Amino acid sequence: MKSLKIKIQMLLKLFPIIIVLVMFLKGSKSDTIYSLETRYIDVPVDHFSAMGSYKTFKLRYLLNGKHYIKGGPVFIYTGGERDITIAAQNTGFLFDIAPIFKAMLVFVEHRYYGKSLPFGNASFSTTENLRYLSTTQALADFSFLIDDLKGKIFENVTSSKIEPFIAFGGYYAGMLSAWLRMKYPFSVRGALTSSAPIFYFPGLTTCEGYYQIVTDMFEKHGQEQCVKTIKLGWDIIINQCKTKLGMDLISSTWKLCNKIRTPEDVNALLDWLANIYVKLSMTNYHYPSDYYKPVPAYPVKIFCEKLTTTFASDTKGLIQSFANALEVYTNYTGKTICNNIYHKQEDFNEIAWQYQTCTELIMPKCSTDNDMFITKQWNYTQFVLECYETFGAKLGPDWALLAYGGKNLQYYSNILFSNSMLDPGSWGGVYMNKSNETDESLMTYEIIDAPHLVDLRGSDTADNNYLVQARNVYVSTLKKWLKLE
Ligand SMILES: *[C@@H]1O[C@H](CO)[C@@H](O)[C@H](O)[C@H]1NC(C)=O
Ligand SMILES: *[C@@H]1O[C@H](CO)[C@@H](O)[C@H](O)[C@H]1NC(C)=O
Ligand SMILES: *[C@@H]1O[C@H](CO)[C@@H](O)[C@H](O)[C@H]1NC(C)=O
Ligand SMILES: *[C@@H]1O[C@H](CO)[C@@H](O)[C@H](O)[C@H]1NC(C)=O
Ligand SMILES: *[C@@H]1O[C@H](CO)[C@@H](O)[C@H](O)[C@H]1NC(C)=O
Ligand SMILES: *[C@@H]1O[C@H](CO)[C@@H](O)[C@H](O)[C@H]1NC(C)=O
Repeated sequence: MKSLKIKIQMLLKLFPIIIVLVMFLKGSKSDTIYSLETRYIDVPVDHFSAMGSYKTFKLRYLLNGKHYIKGGPVFIYTGGERDITIAAQNTGFLFDIAPIFKAMLVFVEHRYYGKSLPFGNASFSTTENLRYLSTTQALADFSFLIDDLKGKIFENVTSSKIEPFIAFGGYYAGMLSAWLRMKYPFSVRGALTSSAPIFYFPGLTTCEGYYQIVTDMFEKHGQEQCVKTIKLGWDIIINQCKTKLGMDLISSTWKLCNKIRTPEDVNALLDWLANIYVKLSMTNYHYPSDYYKPVPAYPVKIFCEKLTTTFASDTKGLIQSFANALEVYTNYTGKTICNNIYHKQEDFNEIAWQYQTCTELIMPKCSTDNDMFITKQWNYTQFVLECYETFGAKLGPDWALLAYGGKNLQYYSNILFSNSMLDPGSWGGVYMNKSNETDESLMTYEIIDAPHLVDLRGSDTADNNYLVQARNVYVSTLKKWLKLE
């Protein structure tokens, strides 16, 4: 009786969202909006110290119990480096399988991202306030929430049975899922990770793979000429930026919000461009999407098709060609007035991620002659120095290895490491030989020709067999962990 009442209450709460949902469902899959209830939980700012006063802050999580039935599992997405609502709206796979498992879905935000700010908008103003931003604190948050959910939220809809929780995540969120299972095995029964580079640390993995994989995507889905033109582009841009006339030409043709003037501007421009290439490759889905920005299906292919001028001698033509091609990413909606090459000052998520990649998550990236980026070496000393200058923070070089054990996975169980081979996150991912998979519950899976986290997205009629097969493997693995088969 009680459980039904609660379900109805939940349904009523969801009602306005359901109406919106129905309206959106008429469009294509990429327009789907998944309905979620927003909740907050008070978590300690510092889980690990008894010093000072006990302070808490509000950690956000999202919940969908539409298909939940008493005794079912809870699928929890361990939020990563972005606003949790974005992860929730781009993880349709969980919504697709919730009915199969009668599962509750929870998406928990990572501290210092989205709305989960320990010190409000002062969270980023001092190094002192940033000190609680760490993977170890985030994992403790997740375990804290799971403990609370097991004890409280479901107390009325279950008997004494504690639901099995399973962690999910892609890229950094996937690293967290795997680590949650490793560090808090009593919290989650298993972890399913997509392109989670838990080996992407100095000493474990070389630096060239990230940009190589981005290049592979352009080679595979653009034409070979495209990569050559992109390479040519760097020289043209750098040359143009040596004169005011050239800088003006680029600024006006590319509709930049502010004219490039200083060497700092030029660096920002080059970074901005490189970042667009990375994002294009990551969102090269076979349908339109809005993950970073709205883009059409196969944006890499379209970008390359628009890059028609290929002669180094035709500088103006090339710059115009790049302008046209870039609009695939910068102006697909046609509503962008101008392009800002600098991050917005208040882009807290970006600051938080920079801080993390400067402290615990030092993931070496370099570019070589084999990829389409400007050649850049990886220098650990230099990197850490720059980080220290920016944040006044520094950790020992091997902290991540010490915290998570590097490649010593033999002590763990129930983790599925899947890698989409055209996802830069698959560099530093886990690949194991059948021969040394001593514990069958540690599994790896490779999806060829798949972009960033596509496997965790909702199913689409145009999905290829590789993708369909991968998701079937995920479902049967979950069934095994949940002892349903
Ligand atoms: C946070 O932002 C609000 C409005 O943007 C402002 O009123 C408030 O003073 C800010 N608080 C801090 C601690 O900066
Ligand atoms: C569970 O039931 C108790 C007693 O009926 C009630 O006070 C409490 O609010 C319920 N909890 C939830 C999460 O609905
Ligand atoms: C975006 O597209 C619109 C419509 O085609 C155009 O008017 C505008 O200048 C474009 N903006 C940029 C930054 O390319
Ligand atoms: C790395 O950076 C440090 C600090 O800037 C510098 O002293 C050193 O020469 C660099 N090493 C290489 C191989 O470039
Ligand atoms: C499995 O064995 C291969 C080759 O012996 C080794 O390179 C790899 O690191 C091992 N993987 C794990 C997870 O132990
Ligand atoms: C698997 O093991 C074989 C032989 O030990 C080795 O040649 C191969 O490179 C390994 N593959 C991976 C992915 O570790």
